[in-house]
Amino acid sequence: MLTTRETIDRAAAIAWYQKNRLRTSQLFDLLTDDAYYAQPISLRHPIVFYEGHLPAFSLNTLVKKGLGRRGVDESLERLFARGIDPDEASSPDGSPFRWPDRAAVREFVEAADALVLDALANADLDIPGHLLLDRANAVSTILEHEAMHQETLLYMWHRLPFDQKQRPANYRLITEASVAANREIVIPPGLVQLGASRGEIPFGWDNEFGPLRVDIPAFAIDRRNVTNGEFLEFVQAGGYEQRDLWAEDDWQWVREHDYWHPSFWERAEKQWMWRGMFELLPLPLDWPVYVSQAEARAYATWRGRRLPTEAEYQRAAYGSTESEGRRFPWGDAAPDSSRGVLTSRAGNRSPLTRIPPVNPPGEWRISWVMAGSGPPPFSGLFQDSSPAPRIPSIPPTSSTTRTM
Ligand SMILES: [Fe+2]
Repeated sequence: MLTTRETIDRAAAIAWYQKNRLRTSQLFDLLTDDAYYAQPISLRHPIVFYEGHLPAFSLNTLVKKGLGRRGVDESLERLFARGIDPDEASSPDGSPFRWPDRAAVREFVEAADALVLDALANADLDIPGHLLLDRANAVSTILEHEAMHQETLLYMWHRLPFDQKQRPANYRLITEASVAANREIVIPPGLVQLGASRGEIPFGWDNEFGPLRVDIPAFAIDRRNVTNGEFLEFVQAGGYEQRDLWAEDDWQWVREHDYWHPSFWERAEKQWMWRGMFELLPLPLDWPVYVSQAEARAYATWRGRRLPTEAEYQRAAYGSTESEGRRFPWGDAAPDSSRGVLTSRAGNRSPLTRIPPVNPPGEWRISWVMAGSGPPPFSGLFQDSSPAPRIPSIPPTSSTTRTM
């Protein structure tokens, strides 16, 4: 937490900003030079945009709009604020839009970083009632914004050809594992709160306000994620060909794009392969499967189940009859490696068994975790290795719906 009502921890804000910038630069180091203007996902900008966008957003939000100070270069700040619209993609003479060369981008980045760091060190960052600076909101915004982009950068990188990437020195792929059999547990009825009131939490995005309290009947849910191996059964059973398993829009989408298996799976002769960040490898059967919501929904239907609602998921994940008092599923302790695989450096997923168990005392011991790393974030439910949880014994009844 950066602020209390009276103070802002400048040193923490600066350290956080610098850590963000270092991680972004490490992400760009994964790319070869010829990837810089690539556009691996058509709905995203070319990669060059994001190197400028991150400091430009911080500069525009905190230094210019928040503090009313001058920026570095008006045209670059505008370009890196939102990219280019389709009608700007070519000039009146028909020549295509040209992004700045990397030296110019780097020069802008360094100048913008210097102004942001100077603001973090010296400016009045917390002004009650100010649209952007109340509770140092602009500071939290720029710090959260960069971390969110790092996640999206990784899934863009994932789409690049392997020869446009280089593995980090400490890269190690973990594929060996043996996950325990899945089984479902019953979550007793109870209340859950989605969202928060303004002032209740130090920072939130607009769509996280206000609070919505949901009264949830009992339901049953799998204790861990669906694995590649389990989803493979669906593929082999012809799940992508069975119209009745898919919702109307989902079916249109899957047929329109000619999808017959999950996006990162590839068929190599008789073997299924996983398209990882840096290599193609035999499909790791114990990794959590990565699919779209449409595919997950069809799989659940095939299994005679349904996906949980957000409220059900949160209630199960927080694992407590008093879940609203918890900051994280395990309590108030900050996330660290004992809570899950939280690094973003590896750029790949991890088997479910690599996720350390968490032990909220005396409850149903399911936790929301980052079940892997890299593109994109992988969240899920998993089974921990501790003895049978002490959960209220509520047998599935007609009022207990089964989710997964
Ligand atoms: Fe952004």
